Amino acid sequence: MEQDRFTEGSQASINVPIALKHLVSKGRVSPVRVIPAHIKCPDYAETGGGEQESSAKVKLSDQEIEQMRYTCHAARRVLDKATKAVRPGVTTDYLDAVVHEACVAKGGYPSPLNYNGFPKSVCTSVNEVICHGIPDDRPLENGDIVNIDVTIFLNGLHGDCSETIPVGRIDQASQYLLTVAYESMMRGIAAIRPNGLIRDIGRASETYVKEHSCSVVRAYCGHGIGKHFHSSPTVPHFYNPNEHTKIKPGMIFTVEPMINMGVWKHTIWKDGWTAVTSDLQRSAQFEHTVLVTQSGVDILTLPEQQSQPFLGQNNKNRPLGKSCANSKSMV
Ligand code: MF3
Ligand code: CO
Ligand code: CO
Repeated sequence: MEQDRFTEGSQASINVPIALKHLVSKGRVSPVRVIPAHIKCPDYAETGGGEQESSAKVKLSDQEIEQMRYTCHAARRVLDKATKAVRPGVTTDYLDAVVHEACVAKGGYPSPLNYNGFPKSVCTSVNEVICHGIPDDRPLENGDIVNIDVTIFLNGLHGDCSETIPVGRIDQASQYLLTVAYESMMRGIAAIRPNGLIRDIGRASETYVKEHSCSVVRAYCGHGIGKHFHSSPTVPHFYNPNEHTKIKPGMIFTVEPMINMGVWKHTIWKDGWTAVTSDLQRSAQFEHTVLVTQSGVDILTLPEQQSQPFLGQNNKNRPLGKSCANSKSMV
């Protein structure tokens, strides 16, 4: 395993980890994309601020939960469009255009746009970027990994999902990281029990990640979602024994662990958004929006061809469901 992380050959790059050869730097950000007048926008679209009362517990009606299914399904369709566009040479700005247009075509608003002043319609996080990467003119390179994090505001509700995609051929260490990141999300979701605790999610994810010699980012968490982009509960992806929030049927939140090859610490670029690993090793993330049911958990952002792994199964020793050993089956 260790061998694969290093380049062979005769150049000065001997013993430079492959992952460190593709470091990302700030690129040029294109002008703000236009939202047609007929699209219903969240309040912050105008103000560039945050959300009002986002920590309030807003319980959705049965009808709103059905609408949430629709919105989350749309988010997945938009993400699918964006992931299909990934190949060497394509800029993250182009992925932004794809996401922006796909959201608008569905009658939705791309939630990141102007959320606390975020300048683009999607987050694109390449290589050592953990999250909140701003799409720019950097062409994706063969061997990169890119997380595309899509959120759509449709019918008054937000749906949120993301995937990390290989660009061309990636080295084995990066492939391993993608698998660990995906599995850690699924382990977290598998740990969700109606009347269980939020901390069970982070415990399951973190245990798995540590067993696989990677680390869990602590600064960014999953979150309640619905009428607000981010609301309670906060869903850490690490274990916090002092956290006693209960998981209740009807809750809707995201599970979105960010997993690093090296240390869990991050720094933020001068743009105020881009979070990168402090050791510049790679980071990967997958995200689902889930609904807690009476008997289990319903993944609202599941890809079309996948069947629900944990729906209505009862509690203990629930199997993990289809595990995805390679990224092809994840997309
Ligand atoms: N989609 C991200 C999440 O999973 C949040 C992005 S906020 C933005 O929570 F402002 F950067 F878009
Ligand atoms: Co997201
Ligand atoms: Co999220």
